Amino acid sequence: MRLDKFFSDMGLLSRRDCARAAARGEITVNGAPVTRADAKINEEKDEVFYRGERVAFSRFVYVMLHKPQGYISATEDGNAPVVTELLPDTLQKRALFPCGRLDKDTTGFLLLTDDGTLAHLLLSPKRHVSKCYAFSLDAPLPAGAEERFAAGVRLGEELCKSALLSPTDDRKGGTIVITEGKYHQIKRMMQSEGCTVTALKRTAFAGIPLDEGLAPGEWRYFTDEEIATLEKAPKK
Ligand code: URA
Repeated sequence: MRLDKFFSDMGLLSRRDCARAAARGEITVNGAPVTRADAKINEEKDEVFYRGERVAFSRFVYVMLHKPQGYISATEDGNAPVVTELLPDTLQKRALFPCGRLDKDTTGFLLLTDDGTLAHLLLSPKRHVSKCYAFSLDAPLPAGAEERFAAGVRLGEELCKSALLSPTDDRKGGTIVITEGKYHQIKRMMQSEGCTVTALKRTAFAGIPLDEGLAPGEWRYFTDEEIATLEKAPKK
């Protein structure tokens, strides 16, 4: 693979920026500076460093985005801004897509990836991947909501799987863990208790907490440990 393609695929440098970085001597391959962006490397075996930091090759990209309000969980939409617009150009070229959907007004953890196989597994209702949300309500949750959510809430024709509800002392907020992703699921579950959700934030996905160092709209790559956790999550 060409050096500039490697950097562009890793979402780190455009081809032009790679050519500049190489000319400045900022890139080494197996310890030796490589000054030409069209140099051929073995992406699986060669040790590539950029500005002294190792750039490991991965066939797929996994990004943790702190989704802000006002964005649609999609790659394109005729009217509203979409979450992929929050990524730099180099990553937009990799055609990442959101793994699952958060409502336009929901904030928090969103995984963006180009690994269709893993995304499919993580989204499968059979896999029970956990999603934790923090919520605020317009009114206190009635007594017994915890037990009703644990038993499985009925939403019209649909029966929800058991959910773990932990209200705050005033019962106008709290956290909830669900293992599926029905349309507007938490808003509808709260509505079944006579409460309207006024704020909803996904705080963890597949047991991985949202990096609170990320402000709304910011993103970072998953760590190797987090990718390993994702790969394990569907197998339970
Ligand atoms: N449940 C909802 O109601 N909305 C979301 O965005 C996620 C879960």
